[in-house]
Amino acid sequence: MASTSLSQLKRKDLFQQKGYIAELWVDSASSATFDVTNPATLETIATLPEMTVADTEAAIAAAHEAFQTYKKTTGRQRAGWLRRWYNLCLEHIDDLALVLTLENGKPLAEAKGEVTYAASFLDWFAGEAERTHGEVVPAANPNQRILTIKQPLGVAACLAPWNFPIAMITRKVGAALAAGCTTVWKPAGETPLSALAQAVLAQEAGFPKGAINVITTLNNVAEVGEALCKSKLVRKLSFTGSTRVGKLLAQQCSQNLTKLSLELGGNSPFIVFDDAKIETAVEACLLAKFRNSGQTCVTANRIFVQEGIYDKFAAALVERIKVLKVGNGIDSGVNIGPLTHNRAVEKAIGHINDAKANGASILLGGSACQPDNLQGYFIQPTVLSGMSTKSLTTREEVFAPVVALYPFKTEEEVVAQANDCDVGLGSFIVTESMPRIWMVAEGLEVGMVGVNLGILSACECPFGGVKESGYGREGGRHGIDEYLTTKSILMNVMG
Ligand code: SIN
Repeated sequence: MASTSLSQLKRKDLFQQKGYIAELWVDSASSATFDVTNPATLETIATLPEMTVADTEAAIAAAHEAFQTYKKTTGRQRAGWLRRWYNLCLEHIDDLALVLTLENGKPLAEAKGEVTYAASFLDWFAGEAERTHGEVVPAANPNQRILTIKQPLGVAACLAPWNFPIAMITRKVGAALAAGCTTVWKPAGETPLSALAQAVLAQEAGFPKGAINVITTLNNVAEVGEALCKSKLVRKLSFTGSTRVGKLLAQQCSQNLTKLSLELGGNSPFIVFDDAKIETAVEACLLAKFRNSGQTCVTANRIFVQEGIYDKFAAALVERIKVLKVGNGIDSGVNIGPLTHNRAVEKAIGHINDAKANGASILLGGSACQPDNLQGYFIQPTVLSGMSTKSLTTREEVFAPVVALYPFKTEEEVVAQANDCDVGLGSFIVTESMPRIWMVAEGLEVGMVGVNLGILSACECPFGGVKESGYGREGGRHGIDEYLTTKSILMNVMG
């Protein structure tokens, strides 16, 4: 094992450096490999197979073969496997969190939070597996009876991002396996290790051979993605990532009209009204902005603060952020880890410079940094005040721990500004007024609204967006439907 931290793993077999097809740990057909890097130290922590289109086709074929029998299993059987997997996740939470911190950078406490969140989807979809029933439909023709049944779509390709490498796997795969689909996983090339650890546990939970397959790639991601989209054997594809890639996948899936769920980029407004409680607003903002170092699709990107509370809120926020410790996620006391890429640091610095050029002032931070002499991709937690709507952050996701404060005067004005963008995923409002909660929540063009809180994630709640943030919902009652089709059966009962 390349990293000394990895020697702390209690279950060494959770650290896999191969792809996984039909119950075999495999290399790439081309024998090529790529390295996985710890973004805090830039140390290489693993070397994995750079899998190809041929490997992808082998994984799809294995999943398709397995589907022929898996589709006939009962919801109760599938629920049993999901619950065992859920229990194994919690049993091995320390190991899973360690692997996650090493590949993604998020602090260990946050990584444990993600493992718990990831496991919750397995528990939730275990329950849903037995509730995929159809309905009896009253027929207009007295000679007929009509009913519907729900059936699994087939092979599901699950493409997960690097920001929540474990939770986005289980949110997709848990639903797919519960529905009776078999799966091909494509974790992000930056963070494949925690998904491979999950594959070990899922197999141990008892899923049949071929129900789970994992393709690892960093450099062949475009070809592998296209192979998944264009295969006639893949009947469902679920992707979390950028709007740019989501649009490309939608084009490629149009070839066979493969059913698609897309959870894409956001530009969440976080709106603090004059009547907000300062402490509630600050704590919610901290959660909405700093989770995973600001690298979430629902991160608070444009923080709109009403004039009457602006100065107090800005001052309280700066005081709260000042005490956050930036560093290596495996060290205790660290609140903010590195960004996952160097280009993310460059982008954030570009946004800060652009904000300054448009008249903003820096209340805190503002630069890249190297805490404890670490070589990784760190940036100081930053607060920018007096943002202009001309700034780049008004249109682009910052994806870094950079808080951009925009002053506003009225409710109408702020709702119009919040909606003036191409995407609509998350949003947050902080107010003590019940009528305002309803009016603003109904008026925002988004998929999710958080009221007086800073996290939108719950396995029982549908997650997804509108506009160019994509379509489909994950989690909740709706999550499993994405992997099912409704078949209608019409019967002549008059002989
Ligand atoms: C995301 O950023 O895409 C997912 C965040 C979450 O589920 O909370």
